[in-house]
Amino acid sequence: SELYNMFSLFIKLFYLTRSMKVSLDVRVPESPAVALFGSDAVLNCSFSGVSEFNLSDLSVFWQLSDTKRAVHSFWQSRDQLSDQEERFSNRTSLFQDQLVSGNASLLLRRVRVADEGSYSCFVRVQTYGSAAMLMQVAAPFSKLLVTWGPESALKPGDAVALSCVAYGGYPEAEVLWQDGAGHNLTHNVTVSQVANEEGLFSSVLTVILEPSSTYSCRLSQPLLGEEAQASVTITQGLVFPPLALWLTVALAVCLLALLVALAAVCRRKIRESCEEMRRQPPALSREANKEVT
Ligand SMILES: *[C@@H]1O[C@H](CO)[C@@H](O)[C@H](O)[C@H]1NC(C)=O
Ligand SMILES: *[C@@H]1O[C@H](CO)[C@@H](O)[C@H](O)[C@H]1NC(C)=O
Ligand SMILES: *[C@@H]1O[C@H](CO)[C@@H](O)[C@H](O)[C@H]1NC(C)=O
Ligand SMILES: *[C@@H]1O[C@H](CO)[C@@H](O)[C@H](O)[C@H]1NC(C)=O
Ligand SMILES: *[C@@H]1O[C@H](CO)[C@@H](O)[C@H](O)[C@H]1NC(C)=O
Ligand SMILES: *[C@@H]1O[C@H](CO)[C@@H](O)[C@H](O)[C@H]1NC(C)=O
Repeated sequence: SELYNMFSLFIKLFYLTRSMKVSLDVRVPESPAVALFGSDAVLNCSFSGVSEFNLSDLSVFWQLSDTKRAVHSFWQSRDQLSDQEERFSNRTSLFQDQLVSGNASLLLRRVRVADEGSYSCFVRVQTYGSAAMLMQVAAPFSKLLVTWGPESALKPGDAVALSCVAYGGYPEAEVLWQDGAGHNLTHNVTVSQVANEEGLFSSVLTVILEPSSTYSCRLSQPLLGEEAQASVTITQGLVFPPLALWLTVALAVCLLALLVALAAVCRRKIRESCEEMRRQPPALSREANKEVT
């Protein structure tokens, strides 16, 4: 009797594991799918483990994994979009001709930053199965732009604020500032990355430096393998124009003062000689004659 009980347990276990094997094998990519902002993305989902079936017996549900909100639903041989999350409307579709061959992939058009997250693919036909996958959104940053200020009124020894700006990227980038010798200046940097209404970042970096060297700003975004670098050399040229201007002004003032002084001296000399001429005209004529001879 005990032997019989054990035998029946074995039989039950055998059927249990067999029925588990029959459940649908649903597969999605293991690593996150990277979708380019604004472009169309395919969220791959394939299923196997079913024999021939009619399309009318198939149900496919794409959901947001955390909220369970509907992204795209399909049953009774057609799309069922009445409960679809608003922000996905007109942007999703299945490859309907591929469904019978086990391809339940979702096409998501015009990808937005808000689309980033985990998606679950449920498939039911005879039995059911599901799998979840991550989608990451990426957008390349604009070309780096390095600016500095204040450009005017800059004297040697003044601090310079260098800004390194890149627009419209996602996700946030890593930024590294270096001086000409390759030293890490990250502790001198204030980084602010602000997102616009579309969720794309602009990276503004400000570094306070002595105006004497070459500084480079490097931005990297591992998701897109994006690397960009820009450098600026703050030479004496930047420092000198204001100084030269002051020198010119000072020189001009000196010259003017000199001329005024000279004029004053000359006028006095002329006046003196005129008075002398009035006092003793003959002497002057005699001297003039003397000069001619
Ligand atoms: C989707 O699956 C197909 C076929 O397995 C593969 O060629 C393609 O690279 C996959 N696409 C993505 C975004 O994973
Ligand atoms: C499903 O079909 C679409 C369209 O042909 C294709 O782009 C995608 O890679 C397929 N996915 C799989 C997992 O086969
Ligand atoms: C598919 O549906 C047709 C008619 O509805 C039926 O005759 C056929 O047996 C079904 N095939 C399978 C594999 O269920
Ligand atoms: C979807 O497309 C239909 C028809 O083209 C349009 O009437 C509707 O406003 C669109 N919905 C959204 C949210 O864009
Ligand atoms: C630069 O310095 C900062 C902190 O001072 C540090 O977090 C960062 O890892 C350094 N980067 C490199 C490439 O050395
Ligand atoms: C970085 O900042 C510190 C203090 O704020 C300053 O002493 C140092 O000179 C700065 N380094 C450079 C290269 O400007």
